[in-house]
Amino acid sequence: MTTTADSVTGTPVAIGTRGGPDQPTLRKDTWWVEPVVTVAVLTAFVVYSTWAAFVGKDYYAGTAFGRDLISPFYSPCIANSCVPGSHSFGTLPFWNYSPALLILIFPLGFRLTCYYYRKAYYRSFWWSPPACAVADGHRSYSGETRFPLILQNIHRYFFWILLIFNCILTYDAVLAFRQPYVVNGVEHSHIGISVGTVVLVANAAFLWLYSLSCHACRHFCGGQVKSFAKHPTRHKLWKFVTPLNARHMRFAWISLFGVAIADLYVRLVASGTIHDPGFHF
Ligand code: FES
Repeated sequence: MTTTADSVTGTPVAIGTRGGPDQPTLRKDTWWVEPVVTVAVLTAFVVYSTWAAFVGKDYYAGTAFGRDLISPFYSPCIANSCVPGSHSFGTLPFWNYSPALLILIFPLGFRLTCYYYRKAYYRSFWWSPPACAVADGHRSYSGETRFPLILQNIHRYFFWILLIFNCILTYDAVLAFRQPYVVNGVEHSHIGISVGTVVLVANAAFLWLYSLSCHACRHFCGGQVKSFAKHPTRHKLWKFVTPLNARHMRFAWISLFGVAIADLYVRLVASGTIHDPGFHF
């Protein structure tokens, strides 16, 4: 390693080092803001989603509220413990714990192995490296070639599983247009729109945008094709997803906030904390 100094600022610069927390950087801007904000937001989401997954209640606003709203953290609700009205996809009779514990492993696995989030949390949590032209926080680097990071390769399989979840959450968004009520013990329903409907529809739309902008999706559409002229359908699919892929980071954050807001909104309605304003036809 050679140490020199920047000719303008006099800042010492290490050349030929493999990094380390004691290595200086020439950057004078607030490069540290992005990793700090990333740590704060992702930590807040993990804390909130863990609490929401374990609490096991107030995830469904049904007939008692004149609504059919289920939290995305709890859908599909297939546990034995699911509240009446929330089982649209059958029941696993042996599972009496929180329904969310069966479900969240898939969306969390998808996000944890996402190429964008990998960049975000490698930089912000592991400082590997924290920003461009800032030394790595570690002196050695093995990439994703060894356990456990080699498991990041399963992202493409999570992509296919999450497409199923997106279909289920889209179905939930359609059900959110239903406003059930009971007359003489018989359930009827109006078709209507409420804030909860809008929240669940937006959540499903953001999740589709996040999934369709996934790098694995773009590779599936246009990868390993030597000539698009011979594969016109794949060329069309690739042209459709490429502009989405360019905005993947944006969709990653919007959908993360969207799913948390959808859970929180349903929770506030189902617990009776707020009324879900809306109308019916
Ligand atoms: S790369 Fe981010 S979801 Fe696939």
